[in-house]
Amino acid sequence: MEAVEIDKISKIYEDGTQALNEVSLKVREGKIYGLLGPNGAGKSTLIGIISGTVSKTSGTAKIFGLDNSKDLQKAKLLLGVVPQEVVSEPVFTVFEVLDFFAGFYGVKKNDRKKKIDEVLEALHLGSKRNTRARFLSGGMKRRLMVAKALIHEPKLIILDEPTAGVDVELRTIIWNYVKEINKKGSTIIFTTHYLEEAEKLCSEIAIINKGKVIVEEETDKLKYLFGETTIDATLENTGFELEKILDTDIIKFNDNEVKIITKTGNESYYLQKLATLGGLKKIEIGQPSLEDIFVKLVKA
Ligand SMILES: Nc1ncnc2c1ncn2[C@@H]1O[C@H](COP(=O)(O)OP(=O)(O)O)[C@@H](O)[C@H]1O
Ligand SMILES: [Mg+2]
Repeated sequence: MEAVEIDKISKIYEDGTQALNEVSLKVREGKIYGLLGPNGAGKSTLIGIISGTVSKTSGTAKIFGLDNSKDLQKAKLLLGVVPQEVVSEPVFTVFEVLDFFAGFYGVKKNDRKKKIDEVLEALHLGSKRNTRARFLSGGMKRRLMVAKALIHEPKLIILDEPTAGVDVELRTIIWNYVKEINKKGSTIIFTTHYLEEAEKLCSEIAIINKGKVIVEEETDKLKYLFGETTIDATLENTGFELEKILDTDIIKFNDNEVKIITKTGNESYYLQKLATLGGLKKIEIGQPSLEDIFVKLVKA
């Protein structure tokens, strides 16, 4: 079952800005899925459309098979969203906000207190339990937003830049909690500017740029499809003999130092060739990061 199925979604805002241009995506149930792209790519617009807060110009969006233009109310019950902008309910305490949202999403009164305690502990928010939301610091407000969206352990959780401007400690707290809920079965979609974060957490990634999907792929496969590996070797003798046995890829010689840049996955070929030369003094292999691939694809 697909948790989310987006088919040819386009969005033109009233001022004529085309934020999305026939975007299609599929997110399988149980995955952690990263939606990446530069500022203005259309990520928040897409999240708004999936969650029913932004109207679409054309196309369809389904959540667990429910078309959100026909069954929005049902779809919303399966969904928890942490929006990019901080919103809060200033006059209520942390406990009251969570009690309200848990109740709204059908968590029974008897279970609510336990559930709230669990969430407060996981997000290290317990000491603010009776604090009114307007007196919370920025980081604490962010925790409350995450708590509020996840309190009912929805089947689908969407987080829009949940860790932007957040310190390392809080990032770790948020991701540990999200991973725990994912283990219990919730599907997670998130956007982030921290590509190492996406590389570590997501099994699948979509990159969008200027309102279009440029790639949707399993994270592990991305580097084989688009990555370049660098091999730096120092030889006993000068490397010029190599010229005869190596062909296509980019090779630079500098006396007895060799640099080979090749498509990721091809490196064993060159390593074998280098081994036949003998007298290998040093070898370093540089694998591409998601950041390298992102920059390459978005600039292309
Ligand atoms: N309410 C709006 N009215 C007009 N244009 C908008 C509105 N919201 C976003 N946009 C524009 O749509 C494009 C995509 O924005 P957004 O979805 O926020 O991108 P991202 O989240 O990837 O940074 C941008 O050009 C942005 O300026
Ligand atoms: Mg955004």
